[in-house]
Amino acid sequence: MSSEQGNDLPPHVLIFPFPLQGHLNPMLNLAHLFCLADFHVTFIVSDFNHRRLLEHSTVPTAFARYPGFQFRALSDGLPDDHPRAGVRAKELVFSLEKVTVPLFKKMMLDENFLGGAARRRVSCFVADAMRFVPEFAREHQLPYILFQTASAAFYWAMFCWPQLLEAQEIPFQGKSMDELIKSVPGMEGFLRRRDLPSFYRGDDVNVLILQVFTGGKLKEGVIFNTCEDLEGPVIAEIQKHVPRIFSIGPIHEQVKSRLMKKKAEVSIIKASLWAEDRSCIDWLDAQPSKSVIYVSFGSITVVTREQVLEFWHGLLDSAQRFLWVMRPDSITDNEGNDQVLAELMERSKEKGLFVEWVPQEKVLNHPATGGFLTHSGWNSTLESIVAGVPMICWSYFADQTTNSRFVSEVWKIGLDIKDTCDRLIIEKAVRDLMEVRKDEFLERAENMAKLVKMSGSEGGSSYTNMDALVQYIKSLVF
Ligand code: UDX
Repeated sequence: MSSEQGNDLPPHVLIFPFPLQGHLNPMLNLAHLFCLADFHVTFIVSDFNHRRLLEHSTVPTAFARYPGFQFRALSDGLPDDHPRAGVRAKELVFSLEKVTVPLFKKMMLDENFLGGAARRRVSCFVADAMRFVPEFAREHQLPYILFQTASAAFYWAMFCWPQLLEAQEIPFQGKSMDELIKSVPGMEGFLRRRDLPSFYRGDDVNVLILQVFTGGKLKEGVIFNTCEDLEGPVIAEIQKHVPRIFSIGPIHEQVKSRLMKKKAEVSIIKASLWAEDRSCIDWLDAQPSKSVIYVSFGSITVVTREQVLEFWHGLLDSAQRFLWVMRPDSITDNEGNDQVLAELMERSKEKGLFVEWVPQEKVLNHPATGGFLTHSGWNSTLESIVAGVPMICWSYFADQTTNSRFVSEVWKIGLDIKDTCDRLIIEKAVRDLMEVRKDEFLERAENMAKLVKMSGSEGGSSYTNMDALVQYIKSLVF
C-alpha cells in the first residue's frame, strides 16, 4: 500500500464492485460523483469487463477528463467464453474468491498498483457485498463502506434473516407463498413470502451468504442507491442497526444534477458491456407517443424458449407495439434459437422490433415509450422511475422479487406478474398497463419521477446525503 503522503493530496477512494453489468453501472456513477468532489479514485474491474468497456462504452473517454481516476484490471478467473449469466453467474462468486481476491491482496502490497507517490494511502474502501471485504479492510485498517447496489428493502429483508429463521418464516419448505411476512419490520402489511429475496427460496438457508448482510460491526456505513421518497421507512429501520447510512440515489440522476450545476457537459457514464444498437431510436422516432412497451430482462437473466414464446404471444395478442432486448446469450436452450427468433421477428415485424442491447436510458426517456416489461433489476427499476415509465414486473432472482412488490403495492406504478409466465396473463397485464389503466399508472409514475429527481437536485435528500458522504470521507483523512 502506498506510504503516507503530504496533506495536500485529496482523499483516495478504492472502489471494488462485483464484476457484473448491474454492479458496474452504479459503482461507476459513484466514482463519477467522487471525481466531481475532486477525490482520487482507484476502480477495480475484471480484465474481461475492462476489455468490453473499452470496446462498447464511453467510459474510458468520459473518465479521461478526471486525471485522479484510474482503473486497475484483474482476472476474474473465468475463461472468455464463460456466459457469466443465469445460474452460471454464481460461478463468478467462486472464481472471484479463488482467483481475483488473492491477486487483489497481492497487488495491494505493490505501491504502484494504487498509483504510487502521486496518491495518498487509501482513505476509504467502498466495496460491494462480498465475503472477503470486511476482514480484509480490518486487516489493512481501511475504513470500509459497503455499497449496496440493490434496493434498501432487499438489504433489510436479508439483514432480518435471524428473525425470519426464529419465526420459522424461512426456510420455505412448502409453506404458503402468499402468506404475509411478519419478521421484516416496516414491510409487515404487504410483503408476502414470494416477495422475499429469492435467496430465501429453497428448503435450506445458506447462512454463509446471509452473514454478508449482517456484518454490521465491520463497516463504517452503507451507501444505498435509493432515496427517502422511495424507501424512507425501510431506511429508518436500517438506521437503527447501521452506524451511517448514505442514501444518495438514484445515482445516475444525481450525476446529471451535479454536472449541470458545474455547467459541465452532461455526459452520463454508461458502462455498457455489449454494443448498443442505436437503430432502435430511429424505430422509436417513428412510433406514436407512449405507444411502445419496452421489454428487457437486464444483463444476467436467462429465459427458456418456452418462456420467450409465452411473452411473444402475450405481446402480440395485446396488440401493442414492443421493443424487445434479447441478448445473444439469453435463451437457455442452445439449439435452433436463431431460426426461432428470425421467425418471431418476421411474424411480428408490423408491431415489434427485436434488438440485442440498447441505450436503455435513452429508450426509457423516449416519448414513444409508454411502459416497461422488466425483470425488476434495481438499476432498471430506478431508470424507469426517473423516466416516469410504468412497469410490468417479471422478476428473475435476488432483490428483484422484492423490488417488484414495491412497484405494484407500495408505489403503485405498475403490475407484478412474478412466478407466472402465461401468454394470457402477459396479454392482460400489457393491455392494462398500456390501455385500460394507462392514465392512472402514468400519473403516479410521473409524480414519482418528479419527487425522485428532486431528491438528487441541490437541496434534495440524496444530494445532501452525498455531501455528507464526501465530508465523512474527508474526515477520515484530515
Ligand atoms: C443485477 C440485479 O438484477 C440487480 O437487481 C442488482 O441490483 C444489480 O445486479 P441486472 O440483472 O443486470 O443487475 O439488472 P439491472 O440492475 O436492471 O441492470 C441492468 C443494467 O443494464 C441497467 O443499468 C440497464 O440500463 C442496462 N441495460 C440493460 C442497457 O444499458 N441496455 C440494455 O439493453 C439492457
